[in-house]
Amino acid sequence: MTTVRRRLGDAPASDQLDPAERMSVDELRALQLERLQWTLRHAYENVPFYRKSFDAAGVHPEDCTELADLAKFPTTSKADLRDNYPFGMFAVGQDRVRRVHASSGTTGRPTVVGYTGRDIDTWATVMARSIRAAGGRPGHKVHNAYGYGLFTGGLGAHYGIEKLGATVIPVSGGMTPRQVQLIQDFRPEIIMLTPSYMLTIIDEFSKQGIDPRSSSLQVGIFGAEPWTEQMRTEIEDRMDIHAVDIYGLSEVMGPGVSQECVETKDGLHIWEDHFYPEVIDPLDRNVLTDGEQGELLFTSLTKEALPIIRYRTRDLTTLRPGTARPAMRRMDKITGRSDDMIVLRGVNLFPTQIEEIVLRTPGLAPHFQLVLTTEGRMDALGVRVEARHDTPAGRRRDAARELVQAVKDTVGVTVTCEVVDPDTLERSVGKLARLVDRRER
Ligand code: DLL
Repeated sequence: MTTVRRRLGDAPASDQLDPAERMSVDELRALQLERLQWTLRHAYENVPFYRKSFDAAGVHPEDCTELADLAKFPTTSKADLRDNYPFGMFAVGQDRVRRVHASSGTTGRPTVVGYTGRDIDTWATVMARSIRAAGGRPGHKVHNAYGYGLFTGGLGAHYGIEKLGATVIPVSGGMTPRQVQLIQDFRPEIIMLTPSYMLTIIDEFSKQGIDPRSSSLQVGIFGAEPWTEQMRTEIEDRMDIHAVDIYGLSEVMGPGVSQECVETKDGLHIWEDHFYPEVIDPLDRNVLTDGEQGELLFTSLTKEALPIIRYRTRDLTTLRPGTARPAMRRMDKITGRSDDMIVLRGVNLFPTQIEEIVLRTPGLAPHFQLVLTTEGRMDALGVRVEARHDTPAGRRRDAARELVQAVKDTVGVTVTCEVVDPDTLERSVGKLARLVDRRER
């Protein structure tokens, strides 16, 4: 493996961290309890949905006297936000709402979220903290290619960059040739976008005859979709930058709920002074202990416009003790959403598992699609993956065979694989949809 040659400034000295990042675990837990009690009261008193759901479960905000009591409260799901479309989950009057965002989802009504002025400031604070943990510093230029608009990526990153004291270049997604031109001309140190769109831009560099490793970029902050350690290596090697992970979701805030620190790259520190995590068993809904894998839940601790209680993210991960920020727990990279899970002849499979295999198979490019079809009465999965530009034609068939074997060995199912020409699969300019569902209904 080629090592990343870019050198960043040292990890931030502790006097550059927010006071919350320097808290002891005991101080943090005390702050969380106080904020949780406020949030439960705020939600119960101001959102009819929460009043009803707490009453139905026989719990009252006063029943929360320690953090573990949160487990007694009912969970909230995306369907609850949809049922209260558009503004029924808001806990403040319209006059206090400064902004709304929405996520389209795959079907039906969008999920709408709202922010007071203070919420926007909190969000900018946690985003600034995230960018600094990634290696960003005041005075850096940040190329922001997350989409602007109802999606939280663009504006969420934008306000954080400004709050940090860095310069935001608000490019948004799309117009890929121009992305390359702006990177070349403005010479940013940091880039923020989805990992799949980073790959599209790296290819565009090569198309324009520019070595992507020669750019001014030092760090990429990638999120909004799952990506693997293998993808980190691919991007770091091809771009010669540090690639770190950022996580968030609109229902909880947007990007900046958790962030990987560049000095450790060992999972994402959750900004626990604002977002309280739990991991549950998705089937029986019992809270799991740290170290066990399950579905991630979040409860907001400071949000005014849209307090969210035990939100079921559908994202699968494990909580671990803090490292670079000792009091803040980390979450493992998200391996997948329960929604993205493919069940093939009784075996569960996540697109990230295929990504790992594609990236370690010589000759295959990181561009692939998963196509589900019906064969007889069974579902069948085909992997369509591009060859790399320098892959000899004779290598393709072997690469396909190796991939099929590796999927069989690691996941335990049989798939088919077609290796297609470079630059033939559709490219991402934001969140990538890997799965094409052609099953007969
Ligand atoms: O994707 C917020 C965001 C923007 C995060 C920019 C990071 C960067 P939503 O559109 O509401 O919000 O989608 C949230 O995206 O539940 C995860 O399934 C997925 N997701 C977000 N970040 C990551 C990540 C934004 N780092 C949903 N790794 C979440 C894996 C992620 N999945």
